[in-house]
Amino acid sequence: MKIVMLGAPGAGKGTQAKKIAAKFGIPHISTGDIFRANIKNETELGKKAKAYMDQGLLVPDELTVSLVTDRVVQKDCKTGYVLDGFPRNIPQAEALTAALDEMGEALGFAINVEVPDGNIVHRMSGRRACVGCGATYHLEYAPTKEEGICDSCGKELILREDDKPETVEKRLRVYHEQTQPLIDYYREKGILYSVDGTKDIQDVFQDILKLLEA
Ligand code: AP5
Ligand code: ZN
Repeated sequence: MKIVMLGAPGAGKGTQAKKIAAKFGIPHISTGDIFRANIKNETELGKKAKAYMDQGLLVPDELTVSLVTDRVVQKDCKTGYVLDGFPRNIPQAEALTAALDEMGEALGFAINVEVPDGNIVHRMSGRRACVGCGATYHLEYAPTKEEGICDSCGKELILREDDKPETVEKRLRVYHEQTQPLIDYYREKGILYSVDGTKDIQDVFQDILKLLEA
């Protein structure tokens, strides 16, 4: 089961990708999470990526594509994976298609989580991320048991640097210009499936399961 998640920033790609990965026992590969881990560990890649991420811009393809094309060839990806945040533009999608072609493999599903722009800023300003394990919550829609403390690891929760409203608006512009064309790209390949991302987290997940298990 080889899946890519599509959707605007804050549409719920990460939330659903984690649930899919847990349900089917396949890796969740998030380029955003990989970059954030590199920033936390102060690696060279992290330093370079941070400058783009803080501005709401895409990290250049030369730093991004090989992270994923090197990952999907690994053994634990043989039965499947969920890509979250990649591809982000047509060149990345083409690079992924070429890498999979070379292995005689193909994606099975591109799941587009649809949420109107009007809902996004509210979603992002309420999102809280754990500094320890990276788990994601929402003040209103996915609250923790104890306010400000991660349910899984007990560490503190923060507002992501790029979730401030002015950066979110920039990320939405970048999404419409560069990422939205992937919807047609995967529609033409016959693997595009859309779900209504404005429903409750659990209801969106049930809709995705219906697609995957059909
Ligand atoms: P990345 O981390 O991929 O950010 P994004 O795509 O903007 O997506 P988000 O993580 O913001 O949102 P999401 O859709 O996963 O939503 P979530 O599930 O958290 O990328 C960050 C940056 O890294 C980019 O801007 C770029 O600079 C760089 N980058 C990453 N990949 C790249 C690439 N391939 N190429 C170049 N640059 C790249 O949900 C959001 C909130 O809503 C949460 O609080 C959640 O609890 C809540 N929520 C989720 N679902 C629901 C629901 N159904 N109802 C109510 N609330 C919900
Ligand atoms: Zn945690």
